[in-house]
Amino acid sequence: MIVAIDGPAGSGKSTVARTIAQRRGFIYLDTGAMYRSVTLACLDNQVDIADTEAVAHIASNSTISFASDNDQTQHVYLNGKDVTQAIREERVDSAVSLVSAIPAVRECMGDLQRKLGEQGSIVAEGRDIGTVVFPHAEVKVFLTANAEARAHRRAVQRDGGNAAQADKAVSSEEEKQILADIERRDKMDSTRRVAPLTAAADAVQIDSSNLTVDEVCAKIEALIDAKSSQNSSEGKTPQKAEISQQTTKQPAKATPKKKVKTTSGPMPWWGNTIADYHAHQIPEFPLGARIFRWIAISVVAIFSKLMWRWTVEDRQKIVEATKERGVVLVMNHVSMLDPIVAYLTFVALGLRIRPIYKDEFNDQGPLGKILAWVGGISVRRGTADLKALRNAQHTLESGDSILVFPEGTRIKSDDEPVTIHGGFALMARMGKAKVLPMAIVGARDITPRGHHIPHPKKVWTKVGDPISFEELGIKGRKEQAEAMEKVAMERVYALRDELRKEHPGHF
Ligand code: DC
Repeated sequence: MIVAIDGPAGSGKSTVARTIAQRRGFIYLDTGAMYRSVTLACLDNQVDIADTEAVAHIASNSTISFASDNDQTQHVYLNGKDVTQAIREERVDSAVSLVSAIPAVRECMGDLQRKLGEQGSIVAEGRDIGTVVFPHAEVKVFLTANAEARAHRRAVQRDGGNAAQADKAVSSEEEKQILADIERRDKMDSTRRVAPLTAAADAVQIDSSNLTVDEVCAKIEALIDAKSSQNSSEGKTPQKAEISQQTTKQPAKATPKKKVKTTSGPMPWWGNTIADYHAHQIPEFPLGARIFRWIAISVVAIFSKLMWRWTVEDRQKIVEATKERGVVLVMNHVSMLDPIVAYLTFVALGLRIRPIYKDEFNDQGPLGKILAWVGGISVRRGTADLKALRNAQHTLESGDSILVFPEGTRIKSDDEPVTIHGGFALMARMGKAKVLPMAIVGARDITPRGHHIPHPKKVWTKVGDPISFEELGIKGRKEQAEAMEKVAMERVYALRDELRKEHPGHF
């Protein structure tokens, strides 16, 4: 169960989220504390906040972790140091909106937040939890309160009091200053380009100006209960049982003590999920997986070359096209040999490519794991698989390429109807990459109908010229993606027809 609580500063998110997490035995995730920690690290290291690259470097090289002490107070650690108090200082308040507006920082924090979300039921609070970090959260709440109420709560909090004690007196001068600061931050957080503070379309809005903490919690818990019963009746994971079990067995110790690094550094040797491999670049894979990859490459290269004597025309075009960043390689799909040829061609040129494969393979014994070990990224077809899109984007940005078969499944005859899956154009757009067409001929009858044993054959492939979005000369995201889909596949089929002409009788 993922509970996403978004809202502006001082709306009561933290108190409410923490309370619900404790009651339900869920993980509590204060995402604002993470942006604050990065800000503190920048300030302490005299990093100019305007230097976005330097700030992003700090974000990806800091270790942020949470742990709760015996009385359930959550502590925030930055590179092992307790910064729970320091991240609430005024200097952090003033700079954090600028830091959290940097896309690379948000990506880094978002990845870390999603990782934490994989560890169990979670209550996460922030600005973009229901919209960007966990768009599929079961319960989404957008918590608001008028600016005066929010300023008062912050003033009480800064005075060392409990923000929930609304009647505690504080200096009105201080409150005025906090109000001005809150209004300034609200404006920055809501108008920034990346992941601005907005309510998700399916979020339940709650105004906490005149409600107590208990009243707000009761409303949200009612939503959690309703969702749990709905899940149970639909036969999904029995959340209610899970919740009550956690609450009775370990009511107080549910907050995670795990330290999670924000670096995407080396992965541990054991226990990695397929998703871990997707989220990391190939050079970051554990040594075991990298050794496996080289053994697999050598064995498959020798076997496939002997069996099918495949050749690649114009492979130099790949070198040219990948000079600046990775490309999205698209190909017609006729046999299991196609990904092998494309993959090995890149390897032979000293380049890396990650095949995109359908996630059904993840359920087919060790196949999904093997594909992940060699760098494959699975995608849920027919949906906007944001995780896969983001992983593909990161791959292209890192200089590696992506291999996509837009036809989806192997096409065994020219009469078969073909549906083109256009996700590749979106990946190229997100990764600001070119699309490189390639075609294969001769592999279709490697295993003729009715046969399981592959036949030795000769196979030809040909690389085309890269296609950039600029050269399409079309405005508008959707229109550009549609045009790219069409042009790229036309080029693939044109290359295939050229090969068929050169090698008559082969398909
Ligand atoms: O919730 P908070 O005041 O501790 O958040 C600190 C800052 O971090 C705030 O200016 C908004 C930003 N933030 C964000 O941009 N996205 C989040 N998910 C959480 C916080």
